[in-house]
Amino acid sequence: MRPPAPRFPASWKQPPERIAPEPAEVLLFATHLDVTPRRLDELRATFSPGEEQRFQSFATDALRSRWGTGRGILREVLGRALGCAPREVRFRYGAHGKPGLAGSPLRFNISHSGALAVIALAQVEVGVDVELPRPRRSDAIARRFYTPGEIERLFAQSDPERRADAFFRLWTCKEAFLKATGEGLSRSTRSYEIAFSPPRLLWATGIPDASRRYSVHPVDVGDPYRAAVVVEASGVTPRTYRWS
Ligand SMILES: CC(C)(COP(=O)(O)OP(=O)(O)OC[C@H]1O[C@@H](n2cnc3c(N)ncnc32)[C@H](O)[C@@H]1OP(=O)(O)O)[C@@H](O)C(=O)NCCC(=O)NCCS
Repeated sequence: MRPPAPRFPASWKQPPERIAPEPAEVLLFATHLDVTPRRLDELRATFSPGEEQRFQSFATDALRSRWGTGRGILREVLGRALGCAPREVRFRYGAHGKPGLAGSPLRFNISHSGALAVIALAQVEVGVDVELPRPRRSDAIARRFYTPGEIERLFAQSDPERRADAFFRLWTCKEAFLKATGEGLSRSTRSYEIAFSPPRLLWATGIPDASRRYSVHPVDVGDPYRAAVVVEASGVTPRTYRWS
């Protein structure tokens, strides 16, 4: 089944010609991943041989096209930020596979789900996650993957639909943290705790100053998608744009 088209908030504008995040900013670029074959060809022309190989490896046309669109638009965003052509952007990879930019202090991260991708760009480490909520056994998953404090706060919500929504909102924050540190699945989701009102990281094992070091920002990307960004800095303002 075709995933729903993203419905971006009306306040989201096209990005400026020059992209340069200030120290206290994280720039977010959201994009619809279902594009015309012509647009996909244009984006694909910027791929490295490795990217073209990965593009070919997807099982269905829809998955191939959405991944290719996200990767191509990532190259466009980064090329504009660096002042180079998209095909000239060079990636490097961290120990657990987090991609970064070779030869630039700028940091970025990307997440895709359904027909939506969000790219985050900042001067400090950043992780972003988007989810298209699907019916899942979310209570059981929460009990398995969330900390006792997170479970207690989640189950204080007695309405099952609201609890399922809270589950996905927390999920995006949890995942964005794993992506901000770059540890990905090598870190247990029970080794750090996130609270809302206000959204914040309470603690993370192995990072004594974690609650001061990282800030958590749920982002409204339009229903039904949910998203969050975690930044290795405090006092940060996310600025959101649509990229087409
Ligand atoms: C890659 C990972 C970090 C996120 O994967 P995901 O949520 O399936 O996919 P997303 O679309 O959000 O992110 C994928 C992108 O993250 C980036 N990425 C890959 N490894 C990464 C890492 N270690 N850290 C940060 N970003 C990473 C890549 O750019 C990748 O894009 P690509 O597939 O186009 O190359 C995954 O390893 C992971 O941690 N999954 C967590 C699953 C889980 O149990 N979550 C529980 C939350 S409570």
